[in-house]
Amino acid sequence: MTPSDVKATLSFSDGSPSVELPIYKGTVGPDVIDIRKLYGQTGKFTYDPGFMSTASCNSKITYIDGDKGELLYRGYPIEQLAGKCDHLETCYLLLKGELPNAKQKEDFVNTVMNHTMVHEQLQFFMRGFRRDAHPMAVLTGLVGGMSAFYHDAMDIDDPQQREISAIRLIAKMPTLVAMAYKYNIGQPYIYPQNDLSYSGNFLRMMFGTPCAPYHVNPVLERALDRIFILHADHEQNASTSTVRLAGSSGTNPFAAIAAGVACLWGPAHGGANEAALKMLEEIGSVDHINEFIKQVKDKNSGVRLMGFGHRVYKNYDPRAKLMRETCHEVLNELGLHNDPLFKLAMELEKIALEDEYFVSRKLYPNVDFYSGIVQRALGIPTSLFTCIFALARTPGWISQWEEMITDPEYKIGRPRQLFNGASSRDVPDMAKR
Ligand code: CMC
Repeated sequence: MTPSDVKATLSFSDGSPSVELPIYKGTVGPDVIDIRKLYGQTGKFTYDPGFMSTASCNSKITYIDGDKGELLYRGYPIEQLAGKCDHLETCYLLLKGELPNAKQKEDFVNTVMNHTMVHEQLQFFMRGFRRDAHPMAVLTGLVGGMSAFYHDAMDIDDPQQREISAIRLIAKMPTLVAMAYKYNIGQPYIYPQNDLSYSGNFLRMMFGTPCAPYHVNPVLERALDRIFILHADHEQNASTSTVRLAGSSGTNPFAAIAAGVACLWGPAHGGANEAALKMLEEIGSVDHINEFIKQVKDKNSGVRLMGFGHRVYKNYDPRAKLMRETCHEVLNELGLHNDPLFKLAMELEKIALEDEYFVSRKLYPNVDFYSGIVQRALGIPTSLFTCIFALARTPGWISQWEEMITDPEYKIGRPRQLFNGASSRDVPDMAKR
C-alpha cells in the first residue's frame, strides 16, 4: 500500500486527544483512511452498516469507476475483454493477473476441460432434493457438498492444492448447474464433452439429450460466453465479500464459495435478473409502463424498477450496454427480433432515463436489465438465471479468495457493533415474568 503525504486528524468535542490516521493511495480510485488502530487509541469503533464508506480489503483484481461507468479486470476494460477474449482467458486473467499467451491458454483450457466431470456419487446426493426445489437451493447444497468429495486438495496453505480447487470449481460449476436443471425437468444428465468450448459444452449439457446429436450454435455459444465474462467479477460486492469473510476463518474453498452462492441468491443481488424478467412479464405491454413507473415512484408501494440502480454505478453500467448488444445478436439469430419483452424493456429504459425520479437519483440500467431476456431467448428457464450468474462469478470469487489467503495482512474478518440492547440484568423467576 502506498502511503499518502496527507494525514487525517480526528478530533473530539469532549476534549479527548485527537488522533492522526494514515492515508493510503490506490493506483486509481479514492484514497483510504487507515482506522485499524482507532479502537486501540480511542476506545471507539467506526459505524458503517452496508459498508457505504468502508474498504474491506486491498485488491488488485477488479476496479469500478461508478461515476464514469468503467469496469476493469486487472486493468483491462470490460468492453475489450468481451470483444477480444473468451471466458476461459478471462478466468486465467482473474486468477493469475495477466492474460495467457497462446500456449498458456491451450494448457489452461485443457486443464479446466479435463476437470469438468463430477464425482458420480454427486448424482445420488442430488436425488435427496425435491424435483421442484429452486435450483439455487440445489446449487448451494451441491457446491458445499463438493468439500465432501474433493478432500485430496483441501489444504488451504498449499498453493498447488488451492489451484486444483480453483480449477475444479470453475470446471465443475457448469456440470452442476446443468445437472440441477436436468434433475428439475426429469431428463437424464448429459456428461460433459471436453472437446467443446466451455460455453458450448454447457449448452450441450443443458439442452442435449442422449437421443439426438446436439449441434452448438456459435452465435448462442458466444452470447453465453459473453454473459460469463460480464459477470466474472465485480470487486467487493455482497457475495464476494461473503466469500472473503467465510474464507477468512480458514474454511475450505468449496464451503466459502457455497456461502457466496447463498448470498447471491437474494433479489437485491444475483436474483435481480430473474426479478427483472418477472417484472417485464407483469407489466405485459408498453401501454402499462406509465402506470408501473407511477408505482415505482410511490415509496409506499414497495415496488422497484428491477435491473435499475446500483450501489457503485451512478452512470450506465458498462455491462448493461454490452448485454443489450448481445440481446440484439441473439434475438436476430433466433428470428425473435420482434420479441415483445425486448421492445418493452427498451421502451421502459427510455422512459426511465428521461424521468426526473431516476435522473436525480442517478439510477441507470444495470447488467440484469437485459441479461434475463438473453437467457430466456437461449432457452434458460427463469428459475435458473441466478445459477448462471453463480457459475459465471465463480472465477471472481475464487480469485478474490486466493488473493485474501495470500495477503500478508490477512486476518479473520470480525466486524464490531454498536450495542443498543439491554445492559446486564438478572433472570427473573418464572412466576415474575
Ligand atoms: N427502483 C426505484 N427506486 C430505486 C431503485 C430502483 N431500482 N434503486 C434505488 N432506488 C432509489 C431508492 O428508493 C432511494 O431513493 P430515496 O433516496 O428517495 O430514498 C435511492 O434510489 C437510493 O437507493 P438505495 O436503496 O439507497 O441504493 P443502494 O445503493 O442501497 O441500492 C440496489 C442498490 C442495487 C440494491 C438498488 O438500486 C436496487 O434495489 N435495484 C434493484 C435491484 C437490482 O437491479 N439489483 C441488481 C444490482 S446489479 C447486479 C450486481 O452487481 O449484483
